[in-house]
Amino acid sequence: MTMLRIDLIAGARPNFMKIAPIIDALQAARARGSHLGYRLIHTGQHYDRSMSGDFFEQLGIPEPDINLEVGSGTQAEQTANIMVRYEKVLMEQPSALCLVVGDVTSTMACSIAARKLGIPVAHVEGGIRSGDWTMPEEINRVVTDAITNWFFTTSDTANDNLRRAGITDDRIFFVGNTMIDTLLKHMPHLRPPAFWQALGLEPGNYFVVTLHRPANVDGEQQLLRLLHAIAGGTGGLPVIFPVHPRTAKHLRELDSAVPDLYYVDPQGYLEFNYLAKHARGVITDSGGITEETTVMGVPCLTLRDNTERPETVAVGTNELIGTDPARLLPALTRLLVGQWKKGAIPQKWDGKAAERIVEHLERLLVAR
Ligand code: UD1
Repeated sequence: MTMLRIDLIAGARPNFMKIAPIIDALQAARARGSHLGYRLIHTGQHYDRSMSGDFFEQLGIPEPDINLEVGSGTQAEQTANIMVRYEKVLMEQPSALCLVVGDVTSTMACSIAARKLGIPVAHVEGGIRSGDWTMPEEINRVVTDAITNWFFTTSDTANDNLRRAGITDDRIFFVGNTMIDTLLKHMPHLRPPAFWQALGLEPGNYFVVTLHRPANVDGEQQLLRLLHAIAGGTGGLPVIFPVHPRTAKHLRELDSAVPDLYYVDPQGYLEFNYLAKHARGVITDSGGITEETTVMGVPCLTLRDNTERPETVAVGTNELIGTDPARLLPALTRLLVGQWKKGAIPQKWDGKAAERIVEHLERLLVAR
């Protein structure tokens, strides 16, 4: 039997930790004589070393077989360029399956290009919904799921969302969370960033902040208000703020810098999760970080009005604070006096999601 090749699509930072364990599991299957193979395609949506290359290195991801090198642009420019370039690749050398992860522009663009050429699509982290149509990610999720053949899901809520959309159970596979596979694998190797000692950081004596959602960072006044609320509510403890390139651009445009925050470059995977693991609390508008802090049992304050990952709130350590800066202080005060929930780990977030995915793929593709 000839090898059945799967295209693995990765484009932006949060994709890389989701794809890494799938590559590991496919390689392990191959060593056992599986007929599944893969081709790693980087769309080039993120291209800075600190947003891309460092993650490949730290997570042991092999060099991409193909880099579409789309770079930055508007939503439509990125979508269009990825579709045109990936379609060309597929027309020259089609694969048996296109596997996409998460909810970034690359996820949606590649799934459309593949499905239109008759190539089935598998979506890892399918079915999650924020219900917030102002987020580009929500549109990416809904469009991708509308044309996905097989869904690999992280939660029962995702399963229910898909069923409600009319997807039958034979296409839904509740496997767990590949981002958590990566976290559990690398937990013993997390390491402090270079500035740890210079800033006198100690476990539990500092906060970590990340902000990159357009709703929080694209409007200068909102960004300023949030940063002032954070600086004012963290009890004089150091606040470490690894700044996403999008946010950096807006910070440069602000006249007045907010003091009392340590602005640092985007951190590597091992350094960022070391910082998060030992923080008193993490303040963020990311989705993935709410999953990681849940697994590490670290209090997480989410500066959004909704979440596509409700289990991080219902089961984990996450709380939705919203985007109104006035709501930060009471929440931070509760945290500082030690009144934060303990949280538990969601079902099947056990480090084996990628293995389950590959088992299903064997059955779905090879045994067909
Ligand atoms: C993207 C994802 C978001 C994810 C985030 C994590 C979409 C719609 N959004 O948002 O879900 O949480 O990644 O980082 O796909 N830039 C650089 N260097 C880079 C990449 C980007 O400087 O390597 C700058 C560019 O100015 C670019 C801006 O950051 O215009 C935004 O990048 P983009 O890929 O459009 O979206 P993100 O905001 O990173």
